[in-house]
Formats: sequence, structure tokens, C-alpha cells
Amino acid sequence: METKRIYLSSPTMHGEELEYVHEAFDTNWVAPLGPNVNEFEKETASYLGGGYAAALSSGTAAIHLALILAGVKRDDIVFGVSMTFAATVNPIVYLGARPVFIDSEPDTWNMDPEALEKAFKKYPDARAVIAANLYGTPARLDDIKDICVRHGVPFIEDAAESLGALYKGRKTGTIGDYGILSYNGNKIITTSGGGMLYSKDEEAIKKARFLSTQAREPERHYEHKEIGYNYRMSNVVAGIGRGQMKHLDEHVSLKKDIYMTYRSAFSDIEGVRMNPYEDCSEPNYWLSCLMLDESVPAGPLDIMTALEKENIESRPIWKPMHMQPVYKDADMICAGSECYCEKVFDRGLCLPSDIKNTKEDMDKIISIVRGCLGAK
Ligand SMILES: Cc1ncc(COP(=O)(O)O)c(C=O)c1O
Repeated sequence: METKRIYLSSPTMHGEELEYVHEAFDTNWVAPLGPNVNEFEKETASYLGGGYAAALSSGTAAIHLALILAGVKRDDIVFGVSMTFAATVNPIVYLGARPVFIDSEPDTWNMDPEALEKAFKKYPDARAVIAANLYGTPARLDDIKDICVRHGVPFIEDAAESLGALYKGRKTGTIGDYGILSYNGNKIITTSGGGMLYSKDEEAIKKARFLSTQAREPERHYEHKEIGYNYRMSNVVAGIGRGQMKHLDEHVSLKKDIYMTYRSAFSDIEGVRMNPYEDCSEPNYWLSCLMLDESVPAGPLDIMTALEKENIESRPIWKPMHMQPVYKDADMICAGSECYCEKVFDRGLCLPSDIKNTKEDMDKIISIVRGCLGAK
């Protein structure tokens, strides 16, 4: 008999989602507009502490629209963090602009402000900056923001992985000029797929809604003065989101329990560390990760292979974008002579962080990982 699969991070549904979905069916609002879309936007903006939000078909669509709103055009340089999921930076290329990649720093594994400052010296005309809060951990957001303000460029904060996390008491996604959320199947809450663009600028969000519905001018006939996109979220999908929002804080708290359980379980092993965060922030702990010092004889692959043998899912750290074949010609800026993110990719891994994991599941994972690390 095959053993039960233990997942990295799978959807956790509660039932209330279905009530909103049924309502959409009962009222025949089965379209990329409707009451669930409007309410999901309002509830999200209110959760984030005010401002405005546009519900979209994906987080990637939100990044694409944020770059357009930021004024990015063909051949512009955009600074993007290297160690992230490709969706953070691919939309730069959709616009014919050029990504220049920025290294990560050891305190949060996110965009290194020192490297960013250096990048502005080399490319003073860069048009925008996009940084992510990886694995739910806020980046050094004020430092990044200050640099952007000083250079007069918009800051796009990719909070796709960090919904519910706090930075100096503020919700992530609200620190940049534009915030990106994702409701992809493995995120802290999910709608099966979907995203949100957040801003304090109401006009920007109105424009995003306009662009996401094919940029149709307010005329009786179909009039178009700009290129638009089919990026609006469906009212059915938004219903799932409304039901999930009620459980967001509970998901964050369960994710935190997982992180703390791993942290204390591995605290006695030399050279093994969890993904770090700053004292001024409270992550949403979306994925718990480990990093192994060079001195540790086992590598991430040994652990991932041992877990997979027991039908347990884990994952390598995002392979940095400057190491990807598709971006082989892009420039990469590091503060010093070495790229820190290459080290994290080489020596790190994501542990199973599914909030439905039982105590037995956690004990099993911990015992396998400890075994690989030579600790019984
Ligand atoms: C950091 C990051 N940015 C952007 C995205 C893109 O979001 P989506 O899958 O909703 O397009 C994701 C997740 O998929 C992500 O992890």
C-alpha cells in the first residue's frame, strides 16, 4: 500500500468558500465581474489597512499591470531580485524592457539594498524596482523603498508569497508603490488561481481594472485607445477568495507553528539554520526552509531524496534568475565579489509546510531530516 503523500503546501479549504460560489451560481454572476469580485477587493484592501485593490486572473498579471502603471516601456532597465520565482521578473520582458538582476542578503534572503544602490550607480536611468518577500519573509523593505524614493523610481513589492506578513507593523504588499498578491494553489490562501494588485493610489487601481478588461473606453460601441488585457478575476474564483480570507490569520498561525517546530527540532545541529527574518518583521511563514553550512556533509539533495523515498514533498530553493538559461545575457549586480543567492540555492531547501500536516507527519519529516544530518 502506498503511504500517504505529505505535501509542501496544498490548498486548505473550509467550506465557507462554497457558500460564495453557490451564491455566484444562484445569481448567475458567472463572469469576470460581480459582487464577489467587488467584495473580495474591498475585504483585501481593508485587511491590508486601507487603500485599493484590483482582483486579477493571476499574480503574474498583477506584476505585468504594475510595470505598465510604473511607466515601464521597451528597452527600459528594470531592477529585479534574482532569487525568486520567474513570474516576478518575466513580465519585464513581456514589455520589451531589460531586467538587471540584484543579489540577496543574508538577513532575509531577499533583495540586497547595498547591491541595489550599486546597480543605480551603473544604471542611473533604471525605470523601476521589483523585489519579493520570499517564502513569506519581508525584505528590508524600508531600505529598498528609501533607495527607490531617492532615485525617483517606483517600487513594486511582490508579496505573492507573503500575504499576512508584517513589516514594522505594516502588512506586506502595502510598503511598495504597488503590491502584488497571488492566490495560486500552493499559496497561504488560494482561489485555485488568481492575483491582486494593491495600491494606495485609487486612480492607479482604476486604471488597472480598465487595462484588465481589454481597455474598453466608456462608449456605447467598442472603442479602444490603448492595448488592454483579459486579466480580470472571475466572480466564481473571487467567491473562493472571500471564504479563504476568513481563515488567513489562522493559516498564518499554523504556518508559524510549523516553522517553530522545525526550528526547535534542528536547533542542536551545528551548521543548520532556518530561513532568517529580521526582528522588525513577522513573516507569514509560508514555507519553512533550511540552509546547511558548507561544513555539513549532507546536501539539500540528500534530504530531498530521502524525503521523496517516503512520499514526502520538498523543494529546492528558487534557482536565481541570473543562473537561468533564458536570462543568460542579463546583468547581475552583487554588493561584493560573490553572489549570496547562489549559496542559498546551493545549500538550501524548502521543507514540507502544509498546514494539514499532523504531529505524526512532522515527527516523521524531522526524523528523516535529522537522520540525513547525522543527528539521531
Ligand atoms: C514570488 C512570486 N511572484 C509571483 C508569483 C506569480 O503568481 P501567480 O502564480 O498567481 O501568477 C508567484 C507564485 O506563483 C510567486 O511565488
